[in-house]
Formats: sequence, structure tokens, C-alpha cells
Amino acid sequence: MTTVPAQHARVLSGMRPTGRLHLGHYHGVLKNWLKLQHEYECFFFIADWHALTTHYEDPSLIPEATRDMLVDWLAAGINPGAATLFVQSRVPEHAELHLLLSMITPLGWLERVPSYKDQQERLKEKDLATYGFLGYPLLQSADILIYKAGLVPVGEDQVAHVEMTREIARRFNHVYGREAGFEDQAEQAARKMGKKNYKLFDRLRRAYQQQGDHEALGVAQALIESQGNLTIGDRERLLGYLEGGGRVILPEPQALLTQASKMPGLDGQKMSKSYHNTIALRDEPAKIEKALRTMPTDPARVRRTDPGEPDKCPVWQFHRVYTDSRIQAWVQEGCRSAGIGCLDCKQPVIDAVLSELAPIQERAREYEAQPDLLRNVLNAGCEAAREVARETMDEVRRAMSLVSV
Ligand code: TRP
Ligand code: SF4
Repeated sequence: MTTVPAQHARVLSGMRPTGRLHLGHYHGVLKNWLKLQHEYECFFFIADWHALTTHYEDPSLIPEATRDMLVDWLAAGINPGAATLFVQSRVPEHAELHLLLSMITPLGWLERVPSYKDQQERLKEKDLATYGFLGYPLLQSADILIYKAGLVPVGEDQVAHVEMTREIARRFNHVYGREAGFEDQAEQAARKMGKKNYKLFDRLRRAYQQQGDHEALGVAQALIESQGNLTIGDRERLLGYLEGGGRVILPEPQALLTQASKMPGLDGQKMSKSYHNTIALRDEPAKIEKALRTMPTDPARVRRTDPGEPDKCPVWQFHRVYTDSRIQAWVQEGCRSAGIGCLDCKQPVIDAVLSELAPIQERAREYEAQPDLLRNVLNAGCEAAREVARETMDEVRRAMSLVSV
């Protein structure tokens, strides 16, 4: 089992283009990406093929949703200078890897993915007994493995997909990573590190394989990573050799579980377009203000003079995201004593949401006005992603004996 050491990890994540982003996406996903883009090499992509797995009958909204998604990302502060932003269908290598991985993927693995039966149930009005829908977690595996991503930020519902990706990678490496003369080649590669490091590596490898010493494994992985004179192939051989397997062509990724967002919808349920309880990042301020003013409160507070209970009120959930402890204490006290009205209570939330969104909306307008810039960002991102994807596919094809004369 080889996992990329976290400090060298590439981060990859994607979103389906299904419409404009809302505060749930911002607090649940994008703010996390904003942080990651400064800490790791990040690849973020718009998963238009994934959208087709469920919306194949009406794909006409995908182009606009793709563009809106890019504008929302940029407006939120995702920086194309720091992260590679691209569209899945413009890196067709994903499809080739999906096809090749399908050769070694047992049907049972796909049928067992929890979201498979769930989603089919939930989206009953659509016929999802398709090949594309069954295969979509494997497409996701290809998305991840083609960049050799080490960390995949996802929500709870996607962890099983990353888990399956690890199994696919393990199987791939097991089947195709065993070239003739593997051990000799690995030994030769190890000697390239110099006598002292070779000895150290050898000792660590034995400590791990014979005593299961995981610390030794970590140190040895770091040692390999720190060698400037090793080729990628040597590195993969050594990583595999270290763990007693074959060459690691596709390293196993790890899920980076995104904390469930505290951001509720206007009705207190999870914020989601299908519940019609969202505030979109680019909604008009007047619309946002109205939505917050009319959102439900503790049903026990019928009259202004009735005391309320913040724990039973969705507005309180907003306070937890948006206001400081002084205001929160004011809410707690004023609500329970009927000292404040619900509109008084909502005002600091309204102010905070509007001031959070003002600069985002301003930037969105600027990007909207520069279609050429948007096009250039995607062109450059798709090209950069493709370069990495092509390299992986060269290795994958070679490992699977798909080399022409
Ligand atoms: N399946 C993800 C979703 O529905 C989107 C996605 C596609 C993705 N490929 C990915 C996420 C690869 C992370 C990594 O939200
Ligand atoms: Fe909710 Fe605030 Fe009204 Fe209390 S005062 S019920 S917390 S909106």
C-alpha cells in the first residue's frame, strides 16, 4: 500500500456544474480550497462528464453552468496563478484512463458503492440504469489517479469513492507494476542514492517489512522523496520495493474530509438547490435581505412579546457562522427574555452576509465583463492539466503493454 506522503501531495477536487454556487458551497467547499491553494499544488476541475451521468437527457445547461462555476470560483478568490483550473471534458485522457481501469474493475465494486443504489432511489424520475451512471465512481478514480493526487478534499458522501480509488490503484500496481527484473532494478535505483543513504534505506526497509515499523516507512519515503537525482521511474520502483510490492505507478490517494459546513439553508435544513433554501453568491443584495428578513424563526415566538429559544431557530445557526461572541450573547439573552425582536436579531446577520458577498459580487462582475480572460484561464488550465495527464498515460500505456512499434 503506497500513499503519497502528505507534504508532497498534489490536491485534486472537482465539482459538477449544476448551476450558480451558493453560501453552502462557499462555506463548505470553497473556503477550504482557498486555504489549500496556498499549501499544495492544486488541481480543481469542473466535472462536466459527471454532470452528464445524471443529466444526459438535457445537457443544454452545462455550458452556462460551467462558465458560472468558473466565475464563482474566481470571484470567491480561487487564484488561477496558484491552482490549475480546468474542465474535465477538455482533458480527454481522463476517458482513456477510465476505459483502461474498467478492464480491472470488478462489477461488484461498483455495485457496492453506497451512492449507487441511494441515488438511483433518490432520482427515481430519471432512468439511471445506465452504464455511465454505474461507472461514474470509476471515472472519479480516473480523475484522481491521472494526476497522482495524494489528497482529495471531499464531503462525507464521497469518501467511499476515494476508498474505491485506493483499491483500484492497489490492484493496478499489483497487476501491472511487476516488470521483469523488478528487484534488481530497485536495488540499482537504491544505490544511486549513495552508499550512506543506501545503507539507511536498506535498514529502514527491513525494519518496516520485518517488524512492521511504520515510522521507518515514513522516514524511508521521505528519504526517497528528498533525492534529487532519481528519475520518476526509480522513485516509483523504490516506493514499491520499500513496501514489498511492485512498482507504484498509480499512488493511492487519501480523502481529505471536509468538515460538514455549519451553514444551514434559510429553513434550517442543509442548504441545497433542491430544497429551495439557498442564498446564491450572486443574488441581488435586495433579494438576499428580503430572504433573510422573511426566513422562519422559532415557531414559539408568535408575538413580539413571546420569549424564544435560539436552539430552535435557523437564524441562530446563521449567527454561529456570521457573528461574534458579543452579538451572540445579545441574541441568547434578548431572545429568551423577549428583549429583542426577530428583525432586530436578523439585522447583524443581514449586514454580515451582505458585506461578505459584496467583494465577491464585485469581482464576479469584473470577470463577467472579461470573457477573454475567462477563456484564457481555462485554456491555460486545461493545457497544464493535460500535460500531467499525458505523462501519466504514457506510463499507464507502457505498463499495460500498449506500446506500438
Ligand atoms: N463526484 C463529485 C461530486 O459529485 C465530483 C467529482 C468528480 C470529484 N470527480 C472528482 C471530486 C474527483 C473529487 C475528486 O461532487
Ligand atoms: Fe430566532 Fe433571533 Fe427571533 Fe430568537 S430572536 S427566535 S434567535 S430570530
